[in-house]
Amino acid sequence: MAYRIGILGATGAVGQELISLLIDRNFPGEIVPLASARSAGKTIECKGKTWTVQEAGADSFKGLDFAIFSAGASISRDMAPIAVREGCLVIDNSSYFRQDPEVPLVVPEINGEAALGSKGIIANPNCSTAIALMGLYPLHKEFGLVRFFASTYQAASGAGALAMAELEDQLRAWSKGEPLVVDKFAHQLAFNVIPHVDKFLDDGYTKEEMKMLHEGRKIMSLPGLRVSCTCVRVPVLRAHSISISAEFERPVDVERARKAVAAFSGAELVDDTANKAYPMPLFFSGKERCGVGRIRVDSAFENGLSLWVSGDQLWKGAALNAIQIAEYLHERGALKIG
Ligand SMILES: NC(=O)c1ccc[n+]([C@@H]2O[C@H](COP(=O)([O-])OP(=O)(O)OC[C@H]3O[C@@H](n4cnc5c(N)ncnc54)[C@H](OP(=O)(O)O)[C@@H]3O)[C@@H](O)[C@H]2O)c1
Repeated sequence: MAYRIGILGATGAVGQELISLLIDRNFPGEIVPLASARSAGKTIECKGKTWTVQEAGADSFKGLDFAIFSAGASISRDMAPIAVREGCLVIDNSSYFRQDPEVPLVVPEINGEAALGSKGIIANPNCSTAIALMGLYPLHKEFGLVRFFASTYQAASGAGALAMAELEDQLRAWSKGEPLVVDKFAHQLAFNVIPHVDKFLDDGYTKEEMKMLHEGRKIMSLPGLRVSCTCVRVPVLRAHSISISAEFERPVDVERARKAVAAFSGAELVDDTANKAYPMPLFFSGKERCGVGRIRVDSAFENGLSLWVSGDQLWKGAALNAIQIAEYLHERGALKIG
């Protein structure tokens, strides 16, 4: 059984990970890489295979069984309905459909069954939210999550392949004493942190910060959840980290919390401060599970825990989660061919 799989945005930071992961995970299928006219005709090489990139257009989805969209919200808005009309299931990495009540927003370890009810589009969550939930969800199951405060430490590659290259270029230029070019971020990222990810809203939060609230509620089916988040870009190439203080309904216990995290399939417990062991982005890049550590009783909340999570946003925050959705459907015979 082999699917025809479209990768829209195949030349991008997420697209490249999608191709490599589909091959590494032996997903049964043939990959059709799609991008804009800029990249049409270019070749992509990965794991000894070569593909020619095709320009995405209205005809691109004929004969595809499913497509993973990673080309931005406006492309998803315009092209996902076309794909669905052609009978091609869309797993969308952009933010465009995430709050649509008709579209399931899925993290397979938490609400995989929601994908089974899709009407043709399945949304993949925001990267920081997906990673934060790898620490929060097992604690929610144990103690009942009420609200949380979070600060993110988001890597440059979260803003795309060119943004990651900008950080590398700035570091190279600085080491040579040359002027640093700023284009993809609002300010110089090298040797800096920027408390500004996505657009500012009227209430002072950014759109990225509100995703933690709205997507957290939808994925965990917790409509009353309260969240206050500050999103910060840091000069890390890959993998986001999130500092979280969370309040729970029931009394907390650190050992029970650690056990719950260790037993959760999306998390790896790294929590041994005596031996300086805690998750860090450098060591959670290219890892399937997100690292969870620094679990302690929160000193401000009544039934509170503080924790730290690091995870690869190109993987669990995007490409891997999308493929896990496809795998979830494939394993249940719910991914159609032809
Ligand atoms: N980076 C992350 O960590 C991350 C995490 C979660 C979600 N996402 C989401 O995933 C999507 C892709 O992000 P990214 O970081 O991979 O961005 P990126 O590196 O900038 O790549 C963008 C991709 O979209 C393609 N594209 C742009 N305009 C297009 C058009 N008009 N028609 C067809 N393809 C077009 C580009 O192709 P060309 O080569 O032709 O320009 C490229 O392949 C975004 O929606 C983003 O919000 C990203």
